[in-house]
Amino acid sequence: MTQNKPYLMALDQGTTSSRAIIFDQQGKIVSIAQKDFKQHFPQAGWVEHDPKEIWSSQSAMMIESLVNKNIKAKQVAAIGITNQRETTIIWDRESGEPIYNAIVWQDRRTAGFCNALKERGEAERIVSKTGLIIDAYFSATKIKWILDHVDGARSKAEAGELAFGTVDSWLIWNLTSGKTHITDITNASRTMLFNIHTQEWDQELLDLFDIPSSLLPEVKSCSEIYCETAGDVLSEKIPIAGIAGDQQAALFGQLCTQPGMAKTTYGTGCFLVMNTGKEAVRSENQLLTTIAWKIGDEINYALEGSVFIGGAAIQWLRDGMGIFKHARESERMADSIEGNDGVYFVPALSGLGAPHWDQDARGAFFGITRGTTKAHMARAALEAIAYQVYDVLKAMEKDSGKPTRELRVDGGATANSFLMQFQADLLSCEIKRPQIIETTAIGAAFLAGLAVGFWKDQEEIKSLWKADRSFVPHMGDPERDRLIHFWHKAVERSKNWVE
Ligand code: G3P
Repeated sequence: MTQNKPYLMALDQGTTSSRAIIFDQQGKIVSIAQKDFKQHFPQAGWVEHDPKEIWSSQSAMMIESLVNKNIKAKQVAAIGITNQRETTIIWDRESGEPIYNAIVWQDRRTAGFCNALKERGEAERIVSKTGLIIDAYFSATKIKWILDHVDGARSKAEAGELAFGTVDSWLIWNLTSGKTHITDITNASRTMLFNIHTQEWDQELLDLFDIPSSLLPEVKSCSEIYCETAGDVLSEKIPIAGIAGDQQAALFGQLCTQPGMAKTTYGTGCFLVMNTGKEAVRSENQLLTTIAWKIGDEINYALEGSVFIGGAAIQWLRDGMGIFKHARESERMADSIEGNDGVYFVPALSGLGAPHWDQDARGAFFGITRGTTKAHMARAALEAIAYQVYDVLKAMEKDSGKPTRELRVDGGATANSFLMQFQADLLSCEIKRPQIIETTAIGAAFLAGLAVGFWKDQEEIKSLWKADRSFVPHMGDPERDRLIHFWHKAVERSKNWVE
């Protein structure tokens, strides 16, 4: 770090908000700016974002994070980018205009096509190359949908006039005024078009999904100087030097750098990711194999359990159902009753992800009686987040053959102590919440900082991770078994709802 460049900026472009966070060399947050943006639900099961709003909110937050604390752009050593993964944007290379809204990772419109692929026996070929289970979650079928449904898109794509990107690519395209079309290897690994073993776009998969390779960005490592911001974005040109999908960035931000270390992020969804080191471990229990990061020539793989609805369940109770005004009220409501009184909520609002992978499941409350109150619904939603993480962790333990002794947690919902205690009780393992729960953003900052020499090496950043609070399990086995039994009964009943 040079004296006059004491800060790093992380752009954390998530599913519901765009944030810019400025860190100092101790990994402390110096400034944070956040803006929510509009979610579009054009049809049941469809979720879209306006790519221009993604960019305008993100660029506005970059400026706000500087102005708020009177920091000059020239004091920022580098920018790291982390983003909601899989969300698919296609734009015109000439005009820079998106040809359709961003199709968000939660969107289910391609579920029918995914089912047809499974029936055609494509599952093995896809998992062996990409580590992914066929599902509408990933980018490939979303790209195909846009090319098949937007007037003139396919012919323009074949003529090389269009560009595809996940949100990282879209931001970098705009940050560089259309000069740079790249992605990083973690985001590429979520498209279902990237071979995680050869580390290349896979022509066979491109043929399977009928996607011209001219659409694709160049794939880079997670920590290197890729380019500089264009002059008109901020008053200074700043190097962009780190990129990782948000769950991978959080794994790095939690300093889970040794094989066997795992974290769960409680964001819109919940994502449990375990570092498996140099080995791409094939899951026998419905988890994903994915790329954790690549730094220099060193690649790290991970196992991931993706739960589609986590904090979004609380958001839906707040915004969709009006059960409470602020998400934090859910903790008090859940604590106001002794137990769940047999009320369970299966938040299959976008189908079910790992380890169930049922695109046709839908959300449901079970066990409702005349005595059921809003407090039961709030409690059921918080418990549901923890049950889903339980299912994924059990699948991970089967794959790794080892019980989990400690789990690091992060994300907004970790501020909810009812949820964290219930999670520790269910998992029967210690849960550690770090001092900096913005681990996604700090992971991206670490990756960028390593590339520009802001931090010397991984050893230096390891000393920055400190636990803030641990939650130790208290629940007895019979109580845990009873809760899990009813949860699984509820999950089975919510499956295969859409015909
Ligand atoms: O795979 C989707 C994930 O990257 C979204 O993360 O934090 O926006 O819920 P988040």
